[in-house]
Amino acid sequence: MTAPVSDLPPASLDAAFGVDIGGSGIKGAVVDTLTGQLRTQRVRIPTPKPSTPDNVAEVVVQLVTKANWTGPVGATFPAVIKSGVARSAANVDPSWIGTDVDAVFSKATGLDVTVLNDADAAGLAEVRFGAARGVSGVVILLTFGTGIGSGIFLNGKLVPNSELGHLELEGHDAESRAAASVKDKQKMSYKQWAKRVQAYMSHVERLFSPDLFIVGGGVSKDADRWVPLLKLQTPVRPAQLLNNAGIVGAAMAAAER
Ligand code: BGC
Repeated sequence: MTAPVSDLPPASLDAAFGVDIGGSGIKGAVVDTLTGQLRTQRVRIPTPKPSTPDNVAEVVVQLVTKANWTGPVGATFPAVIKSGVARSAANVDPSWIGTDVDAVFSKATGLDVTVLNDADAAGLAEVRFGAARGVSGVVILLTFGTGIGSGIFLNGKLVPNSELGHLELEGHDAESRAAASVKDKQKMSYKQWAKRVQAYMSHVERLFSPDLFIVGGGVSKDADRWVPLLKLQTPVRPAQLLNNAGIVGAAMAAAER
């Protein structure tokens, strides 16, 4: 359900449409970029299979059309994004590599679309409106989902495309050991999985000595079941914007472009 058209704000820099592109669902809503609140109800459409650029662009068109939105659009994408172009595809269709995602979505919607990495977007939202609000120094947001995403911030400013989910851990790609999807696939308890997260996060801690970790992704809603098991020097806070962090961060990137 979307808000009635008459309730929609005019397109302006205090609002943008945020789209969060994930492996199973694509979500969108109009975001008040000054407060981080959603102005319309979030709409979710299952990620098409195969998740090729054309198929995904079609869903983005559906979301903005449903909301009658004609202003700037921000979209997250689970890959390295350099100047709008996807440079990796760990958990999405390989046909994305080298695709100008910005251009594909802008052409399909007829709107100005800004694309950025999904964890970078979630981090922008947490730094401005959530768990890292007002925190200076080095903040690292890690999202645990299908893969592991990362966003590094220095005094609130993003260092984009950090890809810490692909650090090598015990001879493996870290996300293949410690992503939330591994917990599900291997039917691990939070206690068992927390040991993997511990090994991973202490590795990240040794490399970056951050001032604060924010942990996000679907598992952040159960943070009390695993975050207290972690033994790190760095404080760890669960993400606060939960399901909306990507949408809000994407809209912020679009409004601030
Ligand atoms: C990708 C990242 C992404 C993360 C979370 C990783 O596999 O390489 O770009 O941020 O998954 O979706």
